[in-house]
Amino acid sequence: MTEKMKTKRSNEEMIAFRKKHFLPTAYLYHKDPIHLVKAQGQYVYDNEGKRYLDAIGGIICISAGHNHPKIKKGMMEMLERDQIQHTSLLYLSEPAVDAAEKLLKEAPAGLDRVSFTNSGSEANELAFMAARNATGETMVINLRHSYHGGTSGTLAHCGHHTWRFKAQPVTQATSAMEPNCYRCPFGKERSSCALECAKNVETTIQTTTHGKIAAFIAEPVMGVGGFISPPPEYFHEVAKIVHNYGGKYISDEVQTGAGRCGGRFLLTTELGIDADMVTMAKGFGNGAAIGACLMKTEVAEKMAGKLYFNTFAADPYQVLQAKLTMDIIEEEGLIENAKVMGGLLKDGLTQMIKKYPLIGDVRGRGLLLGAELVKDPKTKAYAAEECVQFMDLCKEAGLLLGKGGLMGNVVRIAPPISITKDQVNFMLETMDRAFATVEKTRTK
Ligand SMILES: Cc1ncc(COP(=O)(O)O)c(C=O)c1O
Repeated sequence: MTEKMKTKRSNEEMIAFRKKHFLPTAYLYHKDPIHLVKAQGQYVYDNEGKRYLDAIGGIICISAGHNHPKIKKGMMEMLERDQIQHTSLLYLSEPAVDAAEKLLKEAPAGLDRVSFTNSGSEANELAFMAARNATGETMVINLRHSYHGGTSGTLAHCGHHTWRFKAQPVTQATSAMEPNCYRCPFGKERSSCALECAKNVETTIQTTTHGKIAAFIAEPVMGVGGFISPPPEYFHEVAKIVHNYGGKYISDEVQTGAGRCGGRFLLTTELGIDADMVTMAKGFGNGAAIGACLMKTEVAEKMAGKLYFNTFAADPYQVLQAKLTMDIIEEEGLIENAKVMGGLLKDGLTQMIKKYPLIGDVRGRGLLLGAELVKDPKTKAYAAEECVQFMDLCKEAGLLLGKGGLMGNVVRIAPPISITKDQVNFMLETMDRAFATVEKTRTK
């Protein structure tokens, strides 16, 4: 506990205001929602002074920890120097070049152009536009269960009915089957399958397009879909197919990027995916409103002669935060930490499968981990209410987690990648107790 923070409004007043004036789509986690007012490192604090280990990071945005001293110092210095608060790319601005230079060092070979954006959605919109412009084709292939953003074009590529609205503008989009080894849409097991999911990308092109495509977009770990983690061979097969049919491969690293998956800064590089574009946001700015689209020169060059502009792209405060976050990730060895801590967490959770039949699958990479909850391991019936109960129990014990999956039955675990071993142990102990309680009380 820390000191209680005086706030102008009670939680009940804010809930009532939101109900009346926010869009009905504004969803709140937890039966008894919490009001977060303060944060430091891996912890966040509510207005009652209660401390929580933040294992969801807003929504997978906190890499280096909240209010990292280096980022705070950098921002304070900028203010104290009266450094320009806003300028666009119509003028020269060094922070934009600093951040771009740092990011491009981490890009897969051949991706040497970058555009900053305000968000992940905008980065994906730009990638679609660049792919269509480069190929002269319109059709983009996505995966069922994917999520690429909330704007009109990206929502057309959302593989979840819950996120889509009636009568949306249509765009040229078609969906291939999801590469989900736990619930294989082809009824296969990974040990003996022939990557039917990868072949389905080709069948989708042959049966739902005129035979040429603009692009294929996929997340290397499908975040909103419930951290579905396809085998690396999937991506190699699919990239070949996409290129054979004239398309550009867009790797959406909005959740997986910035070292979260352990191994390399980008999972695209680690898995050796032959991508033409990589999109980023969330963790690479440590919560700053920034995204990026990395591109091969040959794709970027095709845009020459046109104008593409967005007011806040490369905003000095946002790019500064991204640059400092990338510096911290490097200086503090956070990618290796994500690998080691993620390994401990995954092993601990995998052990729990033996004790709790509620846990159907544990998956993910580094510190992007999911536990899919099922009512019965044989039927794999979705345990969505149990997932809510589990999250509430963890919250009461001081641990914040997220959820995802088409049916909302996948616990999402994505703490800052600076998390320590003691904190991992706390998470495992807390989740163990919460699983035990849900197992005891649930109806089977
Ligand atoms: C994989 C993926 N792509 C794109 C987006 C959209 O990013 P933003 O919310 O910053 O627009 C998200 C957001 O959750 C995401 O998870």
